[in-house]
Amino acid sequence: MSTERTGYSGLQIALHWIVAILIFGAWFTHEGMGRALRQRIEQDLTGFDGATLHTMMGGAAFAFVIVRLIVRLRTGAPEPHGPPMVQLAATWGHRLLYTLMILAPLLGAITWYGKVEALGEIHELVGQALMLVAIGHLLMAMLHQALWLDGTLMRMFSPSKE
Ligand code: HEM
Ligand code: HEM
Repeated sequence: MSTERTGYSGLQIALHWIVAILIFGAWFTHEGMGRALRQRIEQDLTGFDGATLHTMMGGAAFAFVIVRLIVRLRTGAPEPHGPPMVQLAATWGHRLLYTLMILAPLLGAITWYGKVEALGEIHELVGQALMLVAIGHLLMAMLHQALWLDGTLMRMFSPSKE
């Protein structure tokens, strides 16, 4: 999933932070969703009524992730810094993040709009896994910056033309 680029484009950087904020936002607003879902099913509500902060932020995250993935496939990305093992971990870590970023809101939307109560638990599990991997990712970015001084963190702040 990488090309010969030396950094991320301005658009890629903007999308990275928009998606990160929306995912953290969706996670912090998950409280009470189980109850809302049961009410929705019992009262037989359909359509977009009863949308919550959680479903709106999660839905927006999904839309931006799709745009981000398309931009990523067209633009490419720089090689991760570090020794081969660290590079491999970064490549697979990023692939895992993309997978979870797509799966979490998708499962949430099927649970909510399709009123599939049984999927709720799987959605919750995937959502928690996404947060866990994202926190590991954040710690790795800090480690690159503080220990290896290789400029990885700055790549997500200053755009490069190629
Ligand atoms: C990246 C986006 C998302 C993340 C990280 C996320 C995370 C979570 C988490 C951690 C829970 C567990 C809440 C609890 O039981 O206390 C939850 C519940 C739920 N979420 Fe999401 N969510 C996301 C997107 C969405 C979207 C887009 C929808 C619907 C359009 C949605 C619908 C629901 C529903 C219905 C529940 C209740 C499930 C149940 O208790 O059975 N989520 N979500
Ligand atoms: C929900 C939160 C987040 C998600 C889902 C996420 C996801 C990702 C993904 C998938 C990439 C790879 C980009 C690509 O190659 O297309 C990436 C890169 C990066 N992220 Fe995040 N990120 C999140 C939060 C953060 C935070 C909080 C930080 C900083 C502390 C951060 C710092 C970085 C850096 C520095 C890179 C570039 C890595 C490199 O060039 O090797 N991310 N992020």
